[in-house]
Amino acid sequence: MVLGGFVLLHLGNHVAGFAGQDVHRSVQLALRWLYRGWPEPVLLAACAIQIATGLRLIWLRRSIAWSSALQPLSGAYLAAFLAIHVFAVLQARLGGIDTDLAFAAAGLHAGAWKFFFAPYYGLAVLAFGMHLSVPLGRRNPGMARMLVLASTGLALGLVTLLAGWITPLEIPAELIRAHGRTP
Ligand code: HEM
Repeated sequence: MVLGGFVLLHLGNHVAGFAGQDVHRSVQLALRWLYRGWPEPVLLAACAIQIATGLRLIWLRRSIAWSSALQPLSGAYLAAFLAIHVFAVLQARLGGIDTDLAFAAAGLHAGAWKFFFAPYYGLAVLAFGMHLSVPLGRRNPGMARMLVLASTGLALGLVTLLAGWITPLEIPAELIRAHGRTP
């Protein structure tokens, strides 16, 4: 619940970026007031618990039929994404970098790194929607299909935003250079 609530606010924050980098910044500062400080260890613990319990569930199932693979596959991707994403954010913060929209977008502006970062972010948003759609689909298949459709649209929209195609983005050159030599 803690992680799910955070992710909804977090994605809402990125949607605010469609109105410009300044709007994204204002919303982010307001939300940080909610999740930075004492709530942050709770959020990070929720991430660790979600990754550990999710991977354990996948391990216990051993054989997975293709027809019911959506939840374990999306969960496995989310586990890998969360671990890398949170580590990258915390490491950048320790290095004194402000982890704002420019930080998230820098990878898509660092030469061939865009071929990594575009699917990396896009699939995370899609996997989040797909993961939730499975339990929802048991009660309401129509709503579950809508959720998958909405998360596909959101994934494409956010990657387009990070690429700077929706609104111009100011990204400090050092953030782009921090990705090192392009692969
Ligand atoms: C387009 C997709 C995404 C982008 C561009 C993005 C970007 C970011 C950025 C910039 C931060 C730093 C926030 C801050 O400093 O206030 C952050 C933190 C975080 N993100 Fe994401 N994120 C995305 C999707 C996700 C998804 C799908 C999840 C979860 C499944 C997630 C989980 C987190 C968590 C747990 C944090 C750490 C919060 C903290 O302790 O500061 N993100 N993300």
